[in-house]
Amino acid sequence: MRLFFGLTLPAPVRAVTAAYARDAQAVIPGRYADAANHHITLAFLGEVPPERLPEAEAVLARIAAGFPAPLLTLGEPSHFGRAQNAIFILRVHSHPALEPLHAALADALLRADLPADPGPFSPHITLARHAVLPECLPSPPGAPAFTAQAAHVFSSARDGAGRLAYTPLFAAPFANIARNPE
Ligand code: 2AM
Repeated sequence: MRLFFGLTLPAPVRAVTAAYARDAQAVIPGRYADAANHHITLAFLGEVPPERLPEAEAVLARIAAGFPAPLLTLGEPSHFGRAQNAIFILRVHSHPALEPLHAALADALLRADLPADPGPFSPHITLARHAVLPECLPSPPGAPAFTAQAAHVFSSARDGAGRLAYTPLFAAPFANIARNPE
């Protein structure tokens, strides 16, 4: 199964990113993500044998439990890659920064002999791929700051209709978030 660690968006924030992407489609051609899939990736594992899912969950639970719940805000629109064939994103700002969390997750995955993408990390929400960007991007969306209570293990899989769905399978609360009583 294809796995990654990430943060879900609360419904009001997802409504903002969905509306922003919908408006952007009028001026920026590209293959837009289903807004239900909008999320913030923390670490990408890739293909993991299903029987190793509990180990991936344990890694996320342990690292998230040592990291304070981050306060997040949506940032400016930007892109990865070439402007003529870009990944069109919204940057995400966090307090505390998410880079140490990403680094700790990548390190813990490697120590657990689980895969971890070694690529650069820059917190974002992907809006579209294969986007053709104009000189000027639409102004950033306004959205309330929000606290992520937990990090999630997501699976990435196609449904019966061939649509890609990112599904949170497991929630790992951050340090200062109360856990459910056993
Ligand atoms: P994204 O975070 O820019 O959206 C599942 O594939 C998710 O993991 C996607 O949302 C994807 O990009 C993210 N991801 C991060 N690194 C990846 C990689 N090397 N290959 C595929 N997806 C990756």
